[in-house]
Amino acid sequence: MGEAVSAEDRRKKQAEQRERKDSLRREMLKTMPHGRLSVEIGVWKGEFSRILLEELQPSKLCLIDPWQVQQDPDGGASLAGARTQKDMDRIYDAVTGKYSTEIAKGQVSIIRDYSQPALRLFEDQSIGFAYLDGDHSYEGVKTDLDALLPKMIEGGVIMLDDYHRRGWWKDDVMRAFHEFLGAHSAGLRLKAIMGAQVAVEKL
Ligand SMILES: C[S@@+](CC[C@H](N)C(=O)[O-])C[C@H]1O[C@@H](n2cnc3c(N)ncnc32)[C@H](O)[C@@H]1O
Repeated sequence: MGEAVSAEDRRKKQAEQRERKDSLRREMLKTMPHGRLSVEIGVWKGEFSRILLEELQPSKLCLIDPWQVQQDPDGGASLAGARTQKDMDRIYDAVTGKYSTEIAKGQVSIIRDYSQPALRLFEDQSIGFAYLDGDHSYEGVKTDLDALLPKMIEGGVIMLDDYHRRGWWKDDVMRAFHEFLGAHSAGLRLKAIMGAQVAVEKL
């Protein structure tokens, strides 16, 4: 009984944390480029995608995720939280169902693939806003930032989740992001930092 109560408490706490994070992200999105081609890298259940649609009113929102089970480097729980490929397939089906109206209207498209091959499909200087929340390893963040930069328009913004938060990836997100800023110091400016969200604008 005690355990059931604490599981319920845990769920409540997680829901409250998610709500706080979403309201902070909503606030931040208000200052981001509106009406542009936008991408979300790392979509999971597509919950934040709805907020991106509502707040940014993008010309098109492209959702990129392989929905593949991946082990984290510590050999712990799956990188993405789902333990079996069947679970991942179900989540993918649920996301396509959730956005079927927008997909039919051409407002949303889904690329079921890893970010690197997916980003190669975009023309240079075409993306106005990118939300990066996929592979949190140093290599993953570094290669995604490097691949994104030429695809962004001038004035385009890349926003990252988990900027200073440390999970299995330790300081990888921070390190890759800071190196990216240093490598392009004259061509980027920090646009906003709120909680663990950070956004950088291409000049
Ligand atoms: C933290 S979840 C994304 C959460 C989502 N952005 C949100 O706020 O609701 C991370 C997702 O990244 C995906 N992912 C992991 N590696 C990826 C990669 N290389 N390219 C694209 N997505 C990746 C996983 O499949 C997982 O669904």
